[in-house]
Amino acid sequence: MRVLKKAVLTGVMALALVGSAHAADVKIGFVVKQPEEPWFQDEWKFAQKAAEEKGFTLVEIGAPDGEKVQAAIDNLGAQGAQGFIICVPDVKLGPGIVAKAAANDLKLMTVDDRLVGADGEPIESVPHMGISAVKIGETVGQSIAAEIEARGWDMSEVGAIRVSYDQLPTAVDRVEGAIAALTAAGFPAENIYDAPQAKTDTEAALNAATTVLNQHADVKKWIAFGLNDEAVLGAVRATESVGIPAENVIGVGIGGAESAINEFKKPSATGFYGTVIISPKRHGYETALNMYEWIANNKAPEPLILTSGSLALRDTYVDVRKDLGIE
Ligand code: GLA
Repeated sequence: MRVLKKAVLTGVMALALVGSAHAADVKIGFVVKQPEEPWFQDEWKFAQKAAEEKGFTLVEIGAPDGEKVQAAIDNLGAQGAQGFIICVPDVKLGPGIVAKAAANDLKLMTVDDRLVGADGEPIESVPHMGISAVKIGETVGQSIAAEIEARGWDMSEVGAIRVSYDQLPTAVDRVEGAIAALTAAGFPAENIYDAPQAKTDTEAALNAATTVLNQHADVKKWIAFGLNDEAVLGAVRATESVGIPAENVIGVGIGGAESAINEFKKPSATGFYGTVIISPKRHGYETALNMYEWIANNKAPEPLILTSGSLALRDTYVDVRKDLGIE
């Protein structure tokens, strides 16, 4: 009787072990499109915190193009990872990434940029965490409109640089949200000029914005918005390079990572007026935790998680960061 009981108990324990992976055996990839961008470095940093807390291994991989993404997924499969989180360099790679993940028996979750299928619609079967793009864009537009008013500018004389990256849906949502808020505040739509960037970094934004400024050399006051801080910083650098003084420029970015904070720390204000701070902690720590729960405890993440943002200006960013719990 006793022996039988013991045997049954051992069997139950063995089953329990099969059912959930040991934390030490869990390996999770975190693949990002632009490893040099502070936002993505912060995501990695917070994902690493989750790894330390739960005791799993995090594998950080930078994959700036489709080929590198394919190689990264194969690599993760070969080293025995069970899943990965990815911010892709091109959302149209969606179906290929889903297939490659399945072939390597890897669970897949996206962050920041949501995969689209052949029909251009989001691939809803892949859990995703992104920002509330339209809403955050509106906050950008509202803050610019308020500052235009505070400076007493005549809107009809102001040009707007829309630093754009229209192949990325979240980028379109962000700038369109900004435009909706600006036009609602009376900003003339015909004064908004598109500056398409070839890449989502500062240099590409600077080049795109310079073209717009050269085409409208008669305009003396400018506002700028775009996908992220880098886009707006590029536009601000462009205004500086053609000699427009900082007080004639209002740029508001999205992100709030190192690039924006460094700008606020400069001894005198630049045209980079503000940023909407979003949360690398949620995007890094939480996605990594979600993936861990999925692998270790078979608890799938919510299909779609949208995070919010908080406006921060040169005078307020220290307090806003404190309130958000980021240092
Ligand atoms: C995109 C942008 C990044 C960052 C994230 C936030 O991936 O390229 O700079 O803004 O969205 O979700």
